[in-house]
Amino acid sequence: MALNDFADLCAVVGDDFFEVDRQIRQCLYSQVPLINEVAEYIIGSGGKRLRPLTCLLAARACGYSGRDHIKVAATVEILHTATLLHDDVVDASHLRRGRATVNETWGNATAVLSGDYLISRAFQLIVELKNQDVLEVMANSTCIISEGEVLQLISQRDPEMTEAHYMQVIHGKTAKMFEAAAEGGCVLGDIRWRQVMSVYARHMGAAFQIIDDVLDYLSSSTAMGKNVGDDLAEGKPTLPLIQAMKVADVEEAALIRQAIRTGGLEHLEHIIAIVRNCGAADYARAVAARESELAIQSLHPVPDSVYKQAMIALAEQALHRVT
Ligand code: IPE
Ligand code: IPE
Ligand code: MG
Ligand code: MG
Repeated sequence: MALNDFADLCAVVGDDFFEVDRQIRQCLYSQVPLINEVAEYIIGSGGKRLRPLTCLLAARACGYSGRDHIKVAATVEILHTATLLHDDVVDASHLRRGRATVNETWGNATAVLSGDYLISRAFQLIVELKNQDVLEVMANSTCIISEGEVLQLISQRDPEMTEAHYMQVIHGKTAKMFEAAAEGGCVLGDIRWRQVMSVYARHMGAAFQIIDDVLDYLSSSTAMGKNVGDDLAEGKPTLPLIQAMKVADVEEAALIRQAIRTGGLEHLEHIIAIVRNCGAADYARAVAARESELAIQSLHPVPDSVYKQAMIALAEQALHRVT
């Protein structure tokens, strides 16, 4: 079975991939029309569905053959979507999944409250499974993701942010959601692989976020469905900038330091050129490649299957994505 692109990976789980979307829509139905409108707007605008895919693959790789993994995968995607609704308020972002953000369209209050609704619905769905392990995974993860977002908030506009601290932030705000996906799938099956799945997802999720932070400078809004320079606008010291401040020449490093302190897009073009030319983007890509490699290595003890192979391919594809 070819595993060359994302569509190939989805094909490994077959109709389950689409079943998750049906489950999400069913779960998010509300008597309140505005909630339905907002939920359909954000869910229907696409999204790669990487976390539910991770969950479906992990469940099968760990020998699970039942149907509950659909609900776990749907829960994870709903929680992820809620974090996006809240994140776009916090980051004052205007574009998400190629459309105006919910905060841009309906305002911050609607985005925050709809995000809350999604989180509550996600927990209702997971409670239906009556599985203490899955519940524990989701409850713990959502706490850590919130902590990650707050840790990032504290370091906003701080040019002294270290690479180690950056890693701590992305482990919380991003990798933890992938861990919830992989562990949540695993505990339905052979729980001996729980730790392995968690380590895999931690590294894969870190690789994914580092690439995202590179794309924030080097991609286009058409490809990403998000605006270029969103991180700089908010004064976020992500890995491309942390490295550029170390290796670029003195004036360039000072320009970046100042841009982080003030936020804003005044020097975006110049900073994009610095990130590209001083090797900072390549450095960040190399760190992501190491994370991807660690993710792949961690799967070594898991019995071979097409699902495990797809997880390996997913960690590789996280590096080469353009969207
Ligand atoms: C966006 O995640 C948030 C990050 C962790 C960078 P995705 O890039 O997976 O977003 P969607 O779900 O595909 O829109
Ligand atoms: C993504 O944060 C993590 C969460 C949504 C919790 P970012 O702010 O880095 O991601 P984008 O760039 O908005 O997708
Ligand atoms: Mg954001
Ligand atoms: Mg953010």
